[in-house]
Amino acid sequence: MQEEPYVMVGGDGQYSYAKNSNLQRVGADHAKTLIIEAITENLDIDENVSCPNSNIFGIADLGCSVGPNTYVSMKNIIEAVVQKYKSKGRNLPEFQVFFNDHVSNDFNTLFANLPADRQYFGAGVPGSFYHRLFPKASLKFVYSAYALHWLFRAPPEVGDLDSASCNRGRLYYRNATKEVGQAYSAQFEKDMESFLSARAEELAPGGLMAILMSGRKDGTLPRQSSIGPQDLPLESSLLDLVNEGIISKDKMDSFNLPIYGPSAEEIKAIVVKNEHFDIVRLITLTSNSSLMPTVRRGV
Ligand SMILES: C[S@@+](CC[C@H](N)C(=O)[O-])C[C@H]1O[C@@H](n2cnc3c(N)ncnc32)[C@H](O)[C@@H]1O
Repeated sequence: MQEEPYVMVGGDGQYSYAKNSNLQRVGADHAKTLIIEAITENLDIDENVSCPNSNIFGIADLGCSVGPNTYVSMKNIIEAVVQKYKSKGRNLPEFQVFFNDHVSNDFNTLFANLPADRQYFGAGVPGSFYHRLFPKASLKFVYSAYALHWLFRAPPEVGDLDSASCNRGRLYYRNATKEVGQAYSAQFEKDMESFLSARAEELAPGGLMAILMSGRKDGTLPRQSSIGPQDLPLESSLLDLVNEGIISKDKMDSFNLPIYGPSAEEIKAIVVKNEHFDIVRLITLTSNSSLMPTVRRGV
């Protein structure tokens, strides 16, 4: 089955992601202290454990888009790691940052604006994070912000006009039937399993992965999602076009956005099932219901 990649608007014009990503920036700012704490308390920098014979500290930002948020997050992470090395009296490593996103992401804008004073070697890694992207045990820190709510694809049954789970008249699972919510939840579980299996190979033992993503409160159903209210005007505009006969009802009924905001309980169950990671923290940012699981690759 084909992946459905949707990339952000490139360049630095009025409608670009670079000029319209303040919401994500605020979330990342809230998460900064939590990331510093996780690195200070949980990152294993014992050279016998992580990447022996190498003084390279590999960091990946998965779903980095075009900036500027990724520059700020990479700087924060590196500062925290430097502090940790200094506090242990260890020689500082060389940092290599891998910026990952879909092939069609505007990597040119990303690289053109890399901070001149950066303390790392930068490289682009195009491709889907639902597959392997890096050599075995080559990373010590993986970060991903506001990207994992993008599913590999919308669950096929919600766009199947012959299925009982067909999501008629909606763009995604908000306010939809229980079956539609379940289909999205199952797709998220499947995608997250692929994501974790790939990262289990790539993260060095003792390495950390911090994920910041849109979610919903524990104890609520998918249909009560707080994700994507900005898509409701799009949904009602499409319905108007259907009513005016400009697009067909079947076309509207078979289209669904591949986005999903899980609860903390769902994430916990998937990580536990995977068995390669220990959850070191699983925090809900109350300001915007974002979830921040931080996991550690088992030694
Ligand atoms: C909302 S942007 C977040 C960008 C940045 N992390 C931030 O916090 O500002 C989500 C990004 O995730 C990327 N993305 C979504 N699914 C992906 C996948 N399977 N593999 C790689 N990147 C993906 C999108 O292309 C997009 O650039």
